[in-house]
Amino acid sequence: MTINATVLKNTVARCRERGVIIPTFAQMRDPSRVPQKIKDRLKGVGLWDIDPVNLFRITWKNEPVERGGLYNDGNWIEFPSSLTGVPARIVGIVGKWFPTGAHKVGAAFGCIVPRLVSGAFDVTTQKAVWPSTGNYCRGGAFDCALLGCHAVGILPEEMSRERFDWLRRIGAEVIATPGCESNVKEIYDKCWEIRRTRPDCVIFNQFEEFGNAVWHYHVTGGIIEGVFNRLAGGKTQVAKISKGQNLRLSGFVSATGSAGTIAAGDYLRTISPHVRVVATEALQCPTLLQCGFGGHRIEGIGDKHIPWIHNVRNTDVVAAVDDEACIALMRLFNEPAGQTFLTAEGIAEPLVGQLPTLGISCICNLMAAIKTARMFEMDARDVIFIPLTDSMELYGSRIEEYRKSQGAYTATHAARHYERYLLGAAVEHMRELTYFDRKALHNFKYFTWVEQQQRSVEDLRRLWDPDFWTETFAQVSEWDHRIEQFNEATGLLK
Ligand SMILES: Cc1ncc(COP(=O)(O)O)c(C=O)c1O
Repeated sequence: MTINATVLKNTVARCRERGVIIPTFAQMRDPSRVPQKIKDRLKGVGLWDIDPVNLFRITWKNEPVERGGLYNDGNWIEFPSSLTGVPARIVGIVGKWFPTGAHKVGAAFGCIVPRLVSGAFDVTTQKAVWPSTGNYCRGGAFDCALLGCHAVGILPEEMSRERFDWLRRIGAEVIATPGCESNVKEIYDKCWEIRRTRPDCVIFNQFEEFGNAVWHYHVTGGIIEGVFNRLAGGKTQVAKISKGQNLRLSGFVSATGSAGTIAAGDYLRTISPHVRVVATEALQCPTLLQCGFGGHRIEGIGDKHIPWIHNVRNTDVVAAVDDEACIALMRLFNEPAGQTFLTAEGIAEPLVGQLPTLGISCICNLMAAIKTARMFEMDARDVIFIPLTDSMELYGSRIEEYRKSQGAYTATHAARHYERYLLGAAVEHMRELTYFDRKALHNFKYFTWVEQQQRSVEDLRRLWDPDFWTETFAQVSEWDHRIEQFNEATGLLK
């Protein structure tokens, strides 16, 4: 890490003036390390408030309350066999309780903070640009608002209205690029235009910034490990296991956008070497499955290229999911007729009440987890984790749109969708990756990153080396050290 002392001095002064204390990655992973002084401040602050103390809520372990919450052991939902049709245990870790309602605020933190504490980004003179399909630029705009720095969010024009409305409310500059979800090339083109024409802008490209993957490796990996240990150690669980054997951490399924979240799978591999790391994407844009392309409706994922930060060598399986299935299940989980149907089918009411905690890509994760359980014939000892990245809070307008375009949702729709997409979810559109398949995905990066985005072939080759990733993830201790020094320099923790 090279340090720019002059810029660092500016940033320290700005943070002192605004009362900004920066959490370490270790604190985000384990909030019991957060100082009491911060916890006292959190008691008077709402989850989405523009208050710098909310940097300490960039963790999976927030109490699930709108205001004044402190920390817990994480929030998770276990999906029972009556809903999934498989004996394996599928567990979702809940992202709704991050500020902004989505876990991407952590990825944004991972990208900006290492530069902030090394003086590589000057909050007092520079603008932070967040190229995104939605939640990442919301997270970046939120982090910037806390730091008092100008944010520029770039996102495709077809993303949900909630995202645009919120960005404008928070005071971010918003640039809408042509197309949907998978039109990331258009976002990159806009970034090049900004590089050429706006020298005061710094681009934090989540698709190539390792801070994104590093954050997930430690913080998302950490919460999954903790929840798994709780499940494995809980008395009720031991009683339930028919064969009397221990639970296995068997799967981690993540719908990839920037491929930051899937880096948690790299961490899980270190504690459970046989874990299957599954990347899921829309069948309508099967880039990992078939080098395919296309538009789709699973907001937040699938970008017609392999992100630079995706360690494809650690991905075991690719599962493509039909976006129509996700939309159908979104209606099943959220429409009154769908919820009534599920309750009548014997799904416990508290769980039915929690289903709106799943945004559209979370439903994709759930379907891919069911397919994974089927494909590998997993049983009740196998636990598959999925991130529930955001919730329906960000997609209310979509429900309205489908009511208008597809008509009212009835018990008949609910029965069809439950049978077809949950109980009947089959193993089609899946591929277990061989060594050569992974190498092909790695090579596929060439066309985006070397030909289009000016990366070197040498850098690309380094990404195939497992040591490269070990070293990348290990950087966090130096970052934490710098963060501690930074907080000392502001003097705010005294
Ligand atoms: C709703 C949603 N789901 C999934 C993802 C994909 O996560 P990642 O970019 O870490 O691969 C994103 C990313 O923005 C998202 O917003």
